[in-house]
Amino acid sequence: MIQIERLNKSFGSADNIHHVLHDIDLTINDGDVFGIIGSSGAGKSTLVRCINLLERPTSGKIIIDGKDVTNYKGKDLLDLRESIGMIFQNFSLFQQRSVLKNVTFPLEVNGKKMSKSERLERAHELLKLVELDDKIKQYPSQLSGGQQQRVAIARALVSKPKIMLCDEATSALDTKTTASILDLLGSINRELGVTMVMITHSLAVAQRVCNRIAVIDDGRIVEEGTTAQVFGNPQSPITKELLRNDNLTTMSQTGDESDNSSLPEQA
Ligand SMILES: Nc1ncnc2c1ncn2[C@@H]1O[C@H](COP(=O)(O)OP(=O)(O)OP(=O)(O)O)[C@@H](O)[C@H]1O
Ligand SMILES: [Mg+2]
Repeated sequence: MIQIERLNKSFGSADNIHHVLHDIDLTINDGDVFGIIGSSGAGKSTLVRCINLLERPTSGKIIIDGKDVTNYKGKDLLDLRESIGMIFQNFSLFQQRSVLKNVTFPLEVNGKKMSKSERLERAHELLKLVELDDKIKQYPSQLSGGQQQRVAIARALVSKPKIMLCDEATSALDTKTTASILDLLGSINRELGVTMVMITHSLAVAQRVCNRIAVIDDGRIVEEGTTAQVFGNPQSPITKELLRNDNLTTMSQTGDESDNSSLPEQA
């Protein structure tokens, strides 16, 4: 479980301070696919980056599985980061490394005693899971966007994280590729039990995979609930506006959870 308590984050100092996150309280349960939506600049990435301490909270707490990790440093911080995988819109692969070497990378730098053959075996296992075992010798530039994101997913999973943070992971992909990546993330959630925190600007993406949603506006959580509640009966003006702009009209008018007419087509 991830508990975020009274989290504040500011950038800058004294006379030029920018308060980006205000008193965020959020609980993400084990097994959730938790969506975070909101306008550009609302603070979504900053919030998610506080979970693995890529950003240090200015005040407040991050508690993971009952442990206050907010001030973790050194080995504790490395272990925390290892238990939290992350994927991004631009894939962030190492261009000079083969697919296989991208996936073994976290195991090479984590300081754990794992033999080379164990590392290769683990990487092969993950590349099979993402259906890229025929591409292990290729380089990122030789792959499609969807294939590159699959490599990034394999790399994020190689250290057996319990949590995966996805920051606009499908935003650079077409509808069909998006659907196949979402199906993959969904099966990782269900079959490996990985808790997902997913930032997306696409409400169709959120509707397809998330069981809970938080809406963030100007650094504050303005609405939170099950996906059916938030999309079926939106409360805040910003949620209503996001829904208006995104054509999820059938669901927001009827509140019918089973209506999938506006979802991306199945791969
Ligand atoms: N390292 C930083 N230094 C200063 N300001 C920052 C930094 N990172 C983010 N910000 C500011 O924090 C605010 C929120 O940024 P953030 O990237 O979290 O937004 P977002 O909701 O992810 O937006 P988008 O949908 O465009 O990705 C923005 O005003 C941004 O300029
Ligand atoms: Mg962002």
